[in-house]
Amino acid sequence: MNATAIILAAGKGTRMRSHTAKPLHHLAHRPMISWVMQAGRDAGITDITIVSSPEHDDLHQAVSGQAEILLQTEQKGTGHAVLTAQQTLQNIPADSPVLILFADTPLITAQTLTQLRDRLSASQQGADICVLGFETDTPTGYGRLKLDAASQLTAIIEEADASEAERQITLVNGGIMGAKASVLLSLLPQLDAANAQGEIYLTDIVAAGHQAGYHVSHLICEGDELTGVNDRNQLANAEAMMQQRLRAAMMASGVTMTNPETVTLSFDTEIGADTIIEPHVIFGPGVRIGQQCSIKGFSHLEGCNIADNCAIGPFARLRAGTELGEQVKIGNFVETKNARLETGAKASHLSYIGDSLIGESVNIGAGTITCNYDGINKHQTVIEAGCFIGSNSALVAPVTIGAGSIVGAGSVITRDVAADSLALGRARQTQLAGGVSRTAKTPDQDKL
Ligand code: UD1
Ligand code: CA
Repeated sequence: MNATAIILAAGKGTRMRSHTAKPLHHLAHRPMISWVMQAGRDAGITDITIVSSPEHDDLHQAVSGQAEILLQTEQKGTGHAVLTAQQTLQNIPADSPVLILFADTPLITAQTLTQLRDRLSASQQGADICVLGFETDTPTGYGRLKLDAASQLTAIIEEADASEAERQITLVNGGIMGAKASVLLSLLPQLDAANAQGEIYLTDIVAAGHQAGYHVSHLICEGDELTGVNDRNQLANAEAMMQQRLRAAMMASGVTMTNPETVTLSFDTEIGADTIIEPHVIFGPGVRIGQQCSIKGFSHLEGCNIADNCAIGPFARLRAGTELGEQVKIGNFVETKNARLETGAKASHLSYIGDSLIGESVNIGAGTITCNYDGINKHQTVIEAGCFIGSNSALVAPVTIGAGSIVGAGSVITRDVAADSLALGRARQTQLAGGVSRTAKTPDQDKL
């Protein structure tokens, strides 16, 4: 049976102290709410509704077209937020499972959501309400799950309303729950705000459902998955867990990381088997790397596409629009941007290569700079196959160096160079025989 997901995202997120809506804060370069939506979609949920606040224009733009957005004009609590979706709930079959997800619980996995959904499906004598809980040594801030003698869930007590004894409970509410549409529709309107925070708590449907004789249950899962993000410290904590997860998946797929904890990945990083990532490498969004490459320490890559058998770094910076063919070498302190280097091209030291097309087997000497910007516009540098660019050359774009040419070290090249030419663009060296003894005073030996 098809399931619906309602993602609660209207909260003010006060504890983030941010001008950005909390669900748009990133984990591995992707907004938290996108992680949640992805987990839902991977669990086969196609109908996704987001409950948001009218103040979250940035959020609405970011998710536009990906989900239905409903506005909760006043944030009166999580129960009230789900009630905002009353119309949506009325339009689906009564026993259809509804998963209630939080935009600030981004580590939830599709497997767990699938399990939750299965608990609610009628074919398995499904539960009417099922809550995802976890055990923790640090329950502060979470609602506590109250079980009866038969380990049956009877109520969730919010921290603010909990007695000293209840606060000792270490089984807590992960926030995410599932319920049949009809159960939500019958219980939610009964809830009131007679509690410490004056809010309509979604969590109160557990006690209400238990009393009304519904089948209320809970599912215990990994605490990591249910970590909530309410402030920047928790955001950093969630980022660390997400990175750990991404790295583990990367290594499982055949990538070597010599010191994984120091490598930062993006949600979309793709790396081929037998590529080795050395310590302290940072991947921004949009990086694809082929097989058997070596990405040496302290390199920073974003928006680039690297074919097989390339060697990058250490200390390389590959920026957006970098495209490398096979066996390309980008060495230390080389920056590339919007540049394509064909098979076997090399820039081994201290260069800036921007807005460039570099042909096969070109060798770019140390200190070479493509001068791509004239203060108003960007221009292209083309270096055709087999060229050798001497060290410390400045190639003033737009400029083309024809195939097989050599540019002498220290040249400033402002005009196109024909194929198979030696181009020199530097002051000719002059030498004055005996110049020193004729012009300089005899050195004062005492001061040497
Ligand atoms: C909530 C749970 C708590 C659980 C914890 C897990 C309730 C009452 N409490 O507490 O039991 O242990 O999550 O992380 O549910 N939201 C709205 N509209 C509102 C209020 C909140 O959309 O009026 C959204 C928020 O944007 C957020 C989610 O609901 O995504 C949870 O709200 P939050 O205030 O963070 O709840 P917690 O205090 O963390
Ligand atoms: Ca929260």
